[in-house]
This record gives sequence, C-alpha cells and structure tokens, in this order.
Amino acid sequence: MFSPIPDRQTMIGIFDSGLGGLSVLRAVRNLLPNHDLLYLADSAYCPYGTRPQAEVQARSLACGRWLVHHGAAVVVIACNTATSAAGDLLRADLPVPVVGMEPGLKPAITATRSGQVAVLATNGTLRGERFARLVERFAGGAQVVTVACPDLVGYVEAGDLAGPQARAAVVGHLAPLRAQGIDTIVLGCTHFPFLYPLIADIAGPEIVIIDTGRAVAAQVARVAESVGAGPGRRDLRCVTTGDPAEVSGPLTRVWGQPLPLDHIDL
Ligand code: DGL
Repeated sequence: MFSPIPDRQTMIGIFDSGLGGLSVLRAVRNLLPNHDLLYLADSAYCPYGTRPQAEVQARSLACGRWLVHHGAAVVVIACNTATSAAGDLLRADLPVPVVGMEPGLKPAITATRSGQVAVLATNGTLRGERFARLVERFAGGAQVVTVACPDLVGYVEAGDLAGPQARAAVVGHLAPLRAQGIDTIVLGCTHFPFLYPLIADIAGPEIVIIDTGRAVAAQVARVAESVGAGPGRRDLRCVTTGDPAEVSGPLTRVWGQPLPLDHIDL
C-alpha cells in the first residue's frame, strides 16, 4: 500500500491516464535526476482520449488533488488530453503551480519544408477548443492534418512497442500521410514517444518527428525552482488506480526496468 510521507510540498507530481506520461517522467528524470518524483497512472480510467470532457475533468481534478495531498510542490499534467480538458480547471483549483502540455505544433511549423504537417493525438485533444486555438495561432499558411490514433494508446498500455500489430497500426496511420506530402509529424500524445523507433522506422529518415517531452521537462525545472522545490532523495515512485499486477509488466517494458508501483483508490 502506498504510504504518504511528506509533511512538506517538495516533490514533483506527474500524472497521466496510464503509462504515456512516463515519457514525460523520463525527460524530467533526465533533467532533474536528484529531485523526488511521484508518478500517478490513472490506469483504471485509461484511456482518457475517448471519454467525455466532463469525465476527463473529474479524473484530472482527482489526480491533481491527490498529488498535492501527497506532497507535490508542482503538478505536471503529462497528458495532452487532460491538459486540453482540464488544464485551466486545475490551475484554478490547485494551490501549487501546474505544468501542462500541448501538441508541438509551433516547432513543427518551424521544421516543415513542404508546409504539410500531421498531428497524431487522441480524439479528445483534436476536438478540443485548445487545439483549434493552437492551429489558429501557429499554422500560418501550413496545412495541418489531424490523425486520431486511440489504438496506439492501447499498444503502449499493453507494453507492445514494436510487435506486428503495433507496426501494422502505425503503417495504417502513416501511409496516407506520405501520399499527402507530409514531412513533419507531431507526437501529440504522451504515449507516442514510446513508439518513436517504430514511427521513425516506418516514416523514414526524411520525416521530422516532434516530441515536446524535453521542452515540458525544461518548464518543470523552471517552475520547480521558482517554488523552491529542489533536489531531494532521488525518490522515484509510481502509483496506479489500476491493478499493479496487470500494470507492472507493461510499465517495465515501457520504462526499460521495473519501478516501485503501488495501488491507490481514487
Ligand atoms: N497520454 C494521453 C495524451 O497525451 C492520453 C491517452 C489516453 O488516455 O487516451 O493525450
């Protein structure tokens, strides 16, 4: 059982619907190796991307509040879908700073030579107002093609990062893009960086792939410093609302080695 330790807000709390946010955790860990990090996978409610907005808002609030209650000095929404649905809500609700994320359209527009950019994301992210505003703000003359890939979330949740079915699914999503002259692909869901080698292999070397994990980690570092959340005991722990016996296998495959994992009721 997960036992809360802190009597102070010192750690960085990170959540996602499931394992995708581990791509953000990895970037944060690389940048802040000595900070205490607590990762919450809301596995019992994964995926978020096909749920109604109100439900994603309720889950995000529950996750954010839980992390604060357990000592988070900064809350990171390591999920494009939850940021789109609940980013503003969490900022208004939580007593600590919140770092969210959005598809890296701006760097994609800078990178593209053909003026054709694709964004791979969840249905929730792509239909959100926030994404519409992002396109309005940054697309300029470029054409932005959106591709909802809820199936790819499922492969990552199963820890299948390169199997024949995952490969076939990625081929299915990318084939039409090549025909449209797309030269830049945005990974607009935190699950997808774990499929990066597969996506890069199928897309080919001339396609630029944008992942915002490192930029988000840099923002987390700035915010952590601004609230005085400095290095700790290098604590790195995970909790899940799902069954740890089911989650730990895929988590180990996705992360590359086992991580401490406890169940929480939320
Ligand atoms: N990893 C999430 C994102 O960045 C959501 C995946 C899902 O739960 O549908 O959008």
